[in-house]
Amino acid sequence: MSVPEPRVLRLCAAADVAPGAARRFVVDGVGICLVRCADGFHAVADTCSHEDYSLAEGEVDAERAEIECWKHGSLFSLVTGESLTLPATRPVAVYEVAVDNDDVSVVLP
Ligand code: FES
Repeated sequence: MSVPEPRVLRLCAAADVAPGAARRFVVDGVGICLVRCADGFHAVADTCSHEDYSLAEGEVDAERAEIECWKHGSLFSLVTGESLTLPATRPVAVYEVAVDNDDVSVVLP
Protein backbone atom coordinates (compact mmCIF):
# COMPACT_ATOMS: atom_id res chain seq x y z
CA MET A 1 0.00 0.00 0.00
CA SER A 2 1.45 3.40 -0.97
CA VAL A 3 1.59 6.36 1.39
CA PRO A 4 0.23 9.57 -0.15
CA GLU A 5 2.86 12.22 -0.83
CA PRO A 6 2.46 15.59 0.91
CA ARG A 7 1.20 18.26 -1.45
CA VAL A 8 3.08 21.55 -1.76
CA LEU A 9 0.60 24.15 -2.94
CA ARG A 10 1.52 27.74 -3.78
CA LEU A 11 -0.54 30.33 -1.93
CA CYS A 12 0.90 33.68 -2.99
CA ALA A 13 3.98 35.83 -3.36
CA ALA A 14 5.71 36.83 -0.13
CA ALA A 15 4.94 40.48 -0.80
CA ASP A 16 1.21 39.69 -0.91
CA VAL A 17 1.08 39.39 2.90
CA ALA A 18 2.43 42.38 4.81
CA PRO A 19 4.35 41.82 8.05
CA GLY A 20 1.84 41.39 10.87
CA ALA A 21 -1.01 40.55 8.50
CA ALA A 22 -3.12 37.43 8.02
CA ARG A 23 -4.78 36.22 4.85
CA ARG A 24 -7.26 33.45 4.12
CA PHE A 25 -6.79 30.94 1.31
CA VAL A 26 -8.73 27.88 0.26
CA VAL A 27 -6.61 25.18 -1.36
CA ASP A 28 -7.94 21.75 -2.25
CA GLY A 29 -11.01 22.57 -0.17
CA VAL A 30 -8.92 23.35 2.93
CA GLY A 31 -9.21 26.80 4.52
CA ILE A 32 -5.76 28.13 5.42
CA CYS A 33 -4.91 31.17 7.53
CA LEU A 34 -1.47 32.40 6.41
CA VAL A 35 0.18 34.86 8.78
CA ARG A 36 3.42 36.78 8.42
CA CYS A 37 5.14 37.13 11.78
CA ALA A 38 8.48 38.46 12.92
CA ASP A 39 9.95 34.94 12.61
CA GLY A 40 8.45 34.26 9.17
CA PHE A 41 5.27 32.77 7.76
CA HIS A 42 2.91 30.48 9.67
CA ALA A 43 -0.12 28.58 8.42
CA VAL A 44 -2.95 27.18 10.51
CA ALA A 45 -6.45 25.95 9.78
CA ASP A 46 -8.55 29.03 9.12
CA THR A 47 -11.64 27.93 11.02
CA CYS A 48 -11.59 28.69 14.74
CA SER A 49 -11.87 25.55 16.87
CA HIS A 50 -14.61 27.18 18.94
CA GLU A 51 -17.12 28.06 16.23
CA ASP A 52 -17.19 28.46 12.48
CA TYR A 53 -15.39 31.79 12.07
CA SER A 54 -12.31 32.75 10.08
CA LEU A 55 -9.14 33.24 12.10
CA ALA A 56 -7.60 35.25 9.26
CA GLU A 57 -9.89 38.11 10.23
CA GLY A 58 -8.41 38.18 13.72
CA GLU A 59 -5.71 40.33 15.22
CA VAL A 60 -2.11 39.19 14.83
CA ASP A 61 0.64 39.51 17.42
CA ALA A 62 3.61 39.22 15.06
CA GLU A 63 6.22 39.19 17.81
CA ARG A 64 4.62 36.34 19.77
CA ALA A 65 3.34 34.49 16.67
CA GLU A 66 -0.24 34.46 17.95
CA ILE A 67 -3.63 35.30 16.50
CA GLU A 68 -6.77 36.32 18.35
CA CYS A 69 -10.11 35.13 17.01
CA TRP A 70 -12.16 38.22 16.26
CA LYS A 71 -15.46 36.64 17.31
CA HIS A 72 -14.97 35.70 20.97
CA GLY A 73 -11.31 36.51 21.58
CA SER A 74 -9.60 33.12 21.90
CA LEU A 75 -5.87 33.39 21.38
CA PHE A 76 -4.06 30.74 19.32
CA SER A 77 -0.37 29.97 18.99
CA LEU A 78 0.60 30.04 15.33
CA VAL A 79 3.55 27.76 16.15
CA THR A 80 1.68 24.92 17.87
CA GLY A 81 -1.96 25.69 17.01
CA GLU A 82 -2.78 25.48 20.71
CA SER A 83 -5.67 27.55 22.04
CA LEU A 84 -4.15 29.75 24.74
CA THR A 85 -7.33 31.32 26.10
CA LEU A 86 -11.01 30.44 26.37
CA PRO A 87 -13.59 29.96 25.01
CA ALA A 88 -11.76 27.74 22.50
CA THR A 89 -10.36 24.61 24.18
CA ARG A 90 -9.11 22.64 21.18
CA PRO A 91 -6.10 23.40 18.96
CA VAL A 92 -6.25 24.25 15.28
CA ALA A 93 -4.19 22.33 12.73
CA VAL A 94 -0.76 23.71 11.89
CA TYR A 95 0.64 23.36 8.39
CA GLU A 96 4.23 23.56 7.23
CA VAL A 97 5.05 26.59 5.10
CA ALA A 98 7.65 26.50 2.34
CA VAL A 99 9.16 29.73 1.06
CA ASP A 100 11.07 29.46 -2.21
CA ASN A 101 12.41 32.76 -3.47
CA ASP A 102 9.24 34.85 -3.60
CA ASP A 103 6.74 31.97 -3.56
CA VAL A 104 4.94 31.03 -0.36
CA SER A 105 3.46 27.53 -0.33
CA VAL A 106 1.67 25.38 2.19
CA VAL A 107 2.41 21.70 2.65
CA LEU A 108 -0.73 19.63 3.06
CA PRO A 109 -0.39 16.08 4.37
S1 FES B 1 -15.43 31.60 17.22
FE1 FES B 1 -13.36 31.85 17.75
S2 FES B 1 -13.40 32.16 19.88
FE2 FES B 1 -15.46 31.80 19.36
